[in-house]
Amino acid sequence: MIHPCILCGGSGTRLWPLSRKSYPKQFVAVTGEETLFQATARRLSGVCGAEPLAPPLILTHADFRFIASQQLGEAGIEAGTILLEPEGHNTAPAVLVAALQLQACDPEAVLLVAPSDHRIPDAAAFRAAVARGLPALAKGRIVTFGIRPTRAETGYGWLELSAEAEGAGDGPAPLARFVEKPAPEEAAGMLRSDRFLWNAGIFLFRAADMIAAFEAHAPALIAPVRAALAGATLDLDFLRLAAAPWKATAAISLDYAVMEPARNLSVVPYAGSWSDLGTWDAVWSESARDACGTGCQGTADAIDCENSLLRSDSPEVRLVGIGLRDVMAIATRDAVLVAHRSRTQEVGAAVALLHAQG
Ligand code: GDD
Ligand code: MG
Repeated sequence: MIHPCILCGGSGTRLWPLSRKSYPKQFVAVTGEETLFQATARRLSGVCGAEPLAPPLILTHADFRFIASQQLGEAGIEAGTILLEPEGHNTAPAVLVAALQLQACDPEAVLLVAPSDHRIPDAAAFRAAVARGLPALAKGRIVTFGIRPTRAETGYGWLELSAEAEGAGDGPAPLARFVEKPAPEEAAGMLRSDRFLWNAGIFLFRAADMIAAFEAHAPALIAPVRAALAGATLDLDFLRLAAAPWKATAAISLDYAVMEPARNLSVVPYAGSWSDLGTWDAVWSESARDACGTGCQGTADAIDCENSLLRSDSPEVRLVGIGLRDVMAIATRDAVLVAHRSRTQEVGAAVALLHAQG
């Protein structure tokens, strides 16, 4: 049995104005009919090889509890526990609390931690890749999933294959190094080398091995996270972590806290389509487009537009573009974003500016 754990507490500001603080992108249908969270939960159900997948453990901010449970219900997917974080403290405390919670029920528990905001259209191929990672768990490895890089992306983690990786084929291969969010020059160097893959942000491990990795590399998190779980209270169907110890945990990502320093990492290459839909440019490249490379979504139309994305999520707002090139125009009921396709990384900064202006 594998326990999927879905991380859905992030805020996804670079997809503003579709992604909002109160309703972040994982709960929105960015591409396709289902929301990214629903598609993730569906992808993580069924079996991985011979191993069945348990109902998913959901890790989210307390504010998103009803959105998460309602979306699972609408998709007809049975939820496991929905764990509520009183504050978003990034992914390290969330993953540790998942490992502690599941290990308490089953000392041999195997976890598959996944972000909730990715697009991985071939769910069966993805689950087959997870099954290929399982043999490495007997050796105490933490398994990552590697994507062939296509650009010098500084927003991802990079995985350096060890010399022993040669000949591993599509099975798990040991990693020499995990580099989270490199500087641009370092990313460019890694892209030129053929020894690096992108980290897909999905992790497979035994709970006991992840807890041991925290003990080794981020010991200060253990006591407050244990205390937050020990003091958790049941609120309707939700398990609400105790606020005071949770607030005492450092806000840090799993990638920095554990993956970079860990030495027991392996990677399973994933050759299928994968996108983290982090920016409007990424959404554009994953969307249906006309012969001139333009995608129209919702109540939007394009006349003579090239390599553009025109999207309106409000039936009250008709959006029409004429003669545009490389423009991302996104309208919602109360906000409009117009950005050059090469500048969509900066949307987060625009949101910060709006916040500063009140
Ligand atoms: N429960 C919970 N609590 N979830 C969170 C929190 C939190 O405080 N913060 C973020 N998340 C969720 C997000 O919603 C997302 O689904 C996932 O955790 C990953 O967080 P991101 O903030 O999107 O991470 P990232 O994109 O910068 O980097 C990670 O993903 C990349 C691939 O997309 C890293 O793992 C990189 O190494 C990786 O390349
Ligand atoms: Mg992300």
